[in-house]
Amino acid sequence: MVMVENHFNFNKEDLPPSARNLYKEISDCPNCELARERSQTVPGSGPVPCNLMLIGEAPGKNEDEQGLPFVGRSGKLLDQLLADIKLTRSDVYITNVVKCRPPENRDPTPTEVATCGDFLSRQIELVNPRVIVTLGKFAMARWFSGMTISKIRGQAINESGRWVMPVFHPAYVLRTRLTNLPLIQADFARIESLLQTPPSVGTVGVEAEISNITEIENLQK
Ligand code: URA
Repeated sequence: MVMVENHFNFNKEDLPPSARNLYKEISDCPNCELARERSQTVPGSGPVPCNLMLIGEAPGKNEDEQGLPFVGRSGKLLDQLLADIKLTRSDVYITNVVKCRPPENRDPTPTEVATCGDFLSRQIELVNPRVIVTLGKFAMARWFSGMTISKIRGQAINESGRWVMPVFHPAYVLRTRLTNLPLIQADFARIESLLQTPPSVGTVGVEAEISNITEIENLQK
């Protein structure tokens, strides 16, 4: 296990006890296949609570070595996207759908995603963000099951009083040779106004900016 000083000054000791307890539980988790091959778990980074939460897919090699999310190439792009909107890592809470590296960076299986799902629910409760940005299709699927990311990216829904907005995964943007960079930049540019305009409280279930989920589904047809 390589422990490296992180450039964004995240220190687990600064977290409230509730979050530290959850991190400990995650680090001891034996509940799926991924526990066998990990060097360490990657629970998340950033302050708790926090207004903005970003959720990715799964740790890769660098994350598995350092115990921190998004520290490889995708992380560099993420840092740049945040810098473009005048945010740093210290302003955001970042985690993944699964907390352990899938071997060879394969996709996490539905069982692995489901097994880790309770940890993610508890993190969302503790972080209590105003805005959740899902990075890529695995995080998106928790709220937008069966939908196509290229059709709904950049559109926020109200989920129990907080905005949830899907965007492309930074690794996808890199894989597509940055042709999608302007789209992810445009989506990130929306974050500030979402942070400043909480969705109306008391609305039931999914109240989208574009009025409701049926309209989002119609966009796909
Ligand atoms: N690093 C992460 O922590 N998560 C991803 O989804 C990709 C890279």
